Amino acid sequence: MNKPVNKLSKDDTLVDPFNRHITYLRLSVTDRCDLRCTYCMSEKMTFLNKKEVLTFEEMYRLCSEFIKVGIKKIRITGGEPLVRKGIMDLFEMLKPHLSNDLDELTLTTNGTQLHKYASQLSTNGVKRINVSLDTLDPIKFKKITRIGNLEDVLLGIKAAKDANLKIKINCVVLKNINDDEIDEFINWCIKNHLDLTFIETMPMGDIGNENRLDHFLPLHELKKNISSKFELEDTSFSSGGPAKYSKIRGSFIKLGFITPLSHNFCSSCNRIRIDATGVLHQCLGQSNSLDFRKILRSPGCTDTDLVENIKLAIKHKPERHSFAYDLSNEHIEGMMNRHMSLTGG
Ligand code: GTP
Ligand code: 5AD
Ligand code: SF4
Repeated sequence: MNKPVNKLSKDDTLVDPFNRHITYLRLSVTDRCDLRCTYCMSEKMTFLNKKEVLTFEEMYRLCSEFIKVGIKKIRITGGEPLVRKGIMDLFEMLKPHLSNDLDELTLTTNGTQLHKYASQLSTNGVKRINVSLDTLDPIKFKKITRIGNLEDVLLGIKAAKDANLKIKINCVVLKNINDDEIDEFINWCIKNHLDLTFIETMPMGDIGNENRLDHFLPLHELKKNISSKFELEDTSFSSGGPAKYSKIRGSFIKLGFITPLSHNFCSSCNRIRIDATGVLHQCLGQSNSLDFRKILRSPGCTDTDLVENIKLAIKHKPERHSFAYDLSNEHIEGMMNRHMSLTGG
């Protein structure tokens, strides 16, 4: 295994054309998932072949070069990252960077396999994780995910708590599907000491017969509703992600709102994504990209080649996504063909 690289000076950090410092890498390790959430995928999906997906050695090499040029936080995503065989090997490989030049190694998961991995994640230096959970009703859970069991996720959350991992729940708010259980959801998170973020559904990838517009709920409406029942206090807390957080008076949890549609947060964007095939996406909602698999697999590719291409990619980071819903005309703007499960959100 390669040894972690040394910290470089501040001048070597990545700054994009809009003066944003890029310090957060989201790395998708697979496009596969053991669920089929209706807002994310169609029922029948075609997934990548194994040889199209980067090996852990390739991912580790890329991550090391990103860290060298200023990446401080790496989030492992998918699809569902924990369905990738041997996934703990990648965490183990990255762990030494945590005691050197990486501030945080973390994970976004649907939680179904978490009971198997929670304790190993903790051993590998992961301190907090984000778990996607859109309902606490087992029947609704089956309806949203098409094939999942709520019980598996609850078991995973318990295992993560037992392993001392801090947990944030991600809940995509879907009008007429889960918006009637928001209060119950908040109370459950308060009771279980789980931070919670609500997310607006973004127009990414073909979802078959489902209509995104039917289920879009702008979160300022939701927040107003929540404020009438819970005492919210805005905070300046940032996890380095896109959520704006409030505190709920009388509780220990943070309540976040991720509002790409109703309140754009791109001016403070600090992140880039590598998808499971090694393609770098400068923005979740734009098609700019750079194929690092091609670079990595070209004969004689040096670390300098990788660093130069990382810098080049950052020069082409777009200012913002173009997602927009026109609810009165039933029109979606800025729709991306690629699925969220390829880039990991
Ligand atoms: P932390 O703040 O570190 O806890 O994580 P996070 O909220 O950035 O990550 P997570 O993987 O939990 O993502 C939560 C939601 O935010 C998902 O729906 C992501 O797609 C969305 N998200 C994350 N980054 C971006 C972004 O740059 N643009 C947009 N539009 N959505 C994003
Ligand atoms: N819009 C918003 N969030 C989405 N997620 C998946 N698809 C979408 C979408 N179209 C969420 C998942 C998970 C996170 C990585 O992204 O629920 O919490
Ligand atoms: Fe899987 Fe997450 Fe997509 Fe659901 S939202 S199908 S859990 S990748």
